Amino acid sequence: MPHSASRCETASTRPVPNRLATSRAPGKIILTGEHFVVLGAPAVAMAVNLYSHATVRPARPGRIEVEAGIPLQAIGPVNQNQNQNGRKLLEPLRLAARETLDYIGDKGSGISLDVDCEIPVGAGLGSSASTTVAIITAVAKARRAKLVRKEIFRIAFGPESFLHGSPSGVDHATSIYGGIISFTKPEGIKQLKLKQAPRILVCDTGIHRSTKKLVEAVVRKSREQRQAYSAHVDDVRDISENAIRALRKGDLGELGSLMDANHELLVKIGVSHPLLDKLVRVARVAGALGAKLTGAGGGGCIIALCKTGNDEVSIARALKKHGGLPYRVSMDREGTRIV
Ligand code: MEV
Repeated sequence: MPHSASRCETASTRPVPNRLATSRAPGKIILTGEHFVVLGAPAVAMAVNLYSHATVRPARPGRIEVEAGIPLQAIGPVNQNQNQNGRKLLEPLRLAARETLDYIGDKGSGISLDVDCEIPVGAGLGSSASTTVAIITAVAKARRAKLVRKEIFRIAFGPESFLHGSPSGVDHATSIYGGIISFTKPEGIKQLKLKQAPRILVCDTGIHRSTKKLVEAVVRKSREQRQAYSAHVDDVRDISENAIRALRKGDLGELGSLMDANHELLVKIGVSHPLLDKLVRVARVAGALGAKLTGAGGGGCIIALCKTGNDEVSIARALKKHGGLPYRVSMDREGTRIV
């Protein structure tokens, strides 16, 4: 049986002394268009029910203190007094709080941040975007500032760029808006209203890697091979536009074929991994309507489109047998919010 993505109840339900605000923001999967979205093609992404939570408490004026429970198997919970690695991990979290305070014109407040992330890091599921977005949401609420989604989107580029170099914005846009969105750089965000969300199984290879390095390599190659990449971007534009039509019509067969085609392009530009390719094949043979890597690749996760709950169980079983860690996710409809 696949693991179910369970909500972390602790941050929102435990009584928290001195709490000024708590928020939660979802992770994401990319249905079509990763990497090529950085080069200008549209992407289609879905927010999923794996969350980051951020709680804000008062601290001494001018100070930003950060504690984080981030599921980095190799590192464990980190705080700012720990080693350099710990501090480096916490810097984007501190930056998200700092940039929010600066944006709302609050120079003097001190805040203490407690961040909990139930999304595996480096797995292509948007862990950093969701922590960034949760922090911006909670800090703004704690300082009684009302931010619209576009403002959160712009503020999030600071911390996201610190981590990822030049992100397209698709990860944090999905975490902010929730549901399924189409996204085109720089700020083309459209929410898709669907009667039913596609049934998606996520499967983790357990190999986690740096999005920044993968994106930089693709951007470099796109400059060296302009013609080929311009043709790929056109192909992915078609794939994403057709995926939107297929989602609206509920044509899952078509959506699956488009996901397959998208995976082949990602293989072509060198961001896949032998285990990702194997799991994609296993998912298809076990009955998935389509399967592909999701996110930056190089490891991380695949997604498989399933027709029924029974299919989902048998596909998950096959993936597990071949070394993957499958888990079932559902769509988060709300995006970031105060809890
Ligand atoms: C990462 O989730 C998605 C990428 O396309 C990078 C980005 O869009 O910023 C690989």
